[in-house]
Amino acid sequence: MTDTELRVSKIENGTVLDHLAAGEALHVLAMLGIDGSGGEAVSLGMNVPSERLGRKDVVKVEGRELSDSEVEVLSLIAPDATVNIVRDYEVVAKRRVERPAEVSGVLTCQNSECITNAGEPAEPTFEVLDDGLRCDYCGDILRDDITAHLADTPQSP
Ligand code: CTP
Ligand code: ZN
Repeated sequence: MTDTELRVSKIENGTVLDHLAAGEALHVLAMLGIDGSGGEAVSLGMNVPSERLGRKDVVKVEGRELSDSEVEVLSLIAPDATVNIVRDYEVVAKRRVERPAEVSGVLTCQNSECITNAGEPAEPTFEVLDDGLRCDYCGDILRDDITAHLADTPQSP
């Protein structure tokens, strides 16, 4: 990477979410439950030039490595993302996100009649389709605005 491409400074330890579609950075932060209140240093690049995507968003979170379930949810809203784990200024792991076959416990069903919204011990589980997420309990399909249906407690690393 050349100096002219480096829009936001390097981080010492943490996670760099790269190749997010332009405009996704704020959704990704919402997905991760990051609003600055945790005190961690967060840098955003929005609409930065990218060879692969033309324009992209980048999110850098200091002092935090994403859990597998966070990467799963990320894949639902940012299928082209690269997750870079940084330790002591070096990228020690780099992986593309993969869409899982199903997700459990991270999203809530939008159908208020669904048993997962009735206070029962039924963990909301969704089958991942090409164009949405299908609730295993009621069959309702969540297509838009996935971040609005994140379960309250973001997964900790
Ligand atoms: N990065 C960072 N802090 C570090 C190391 C890397 O913020 N200490 C960022 C870089 O700015 C880049 C991303 O992590 O956005 C990936 O770094 P690197 O693998 O060095 O860059 P590229 O080779 O350009 O990545 P790719 O091949 O995935 O495009
Ligand atoms: Zn449901």
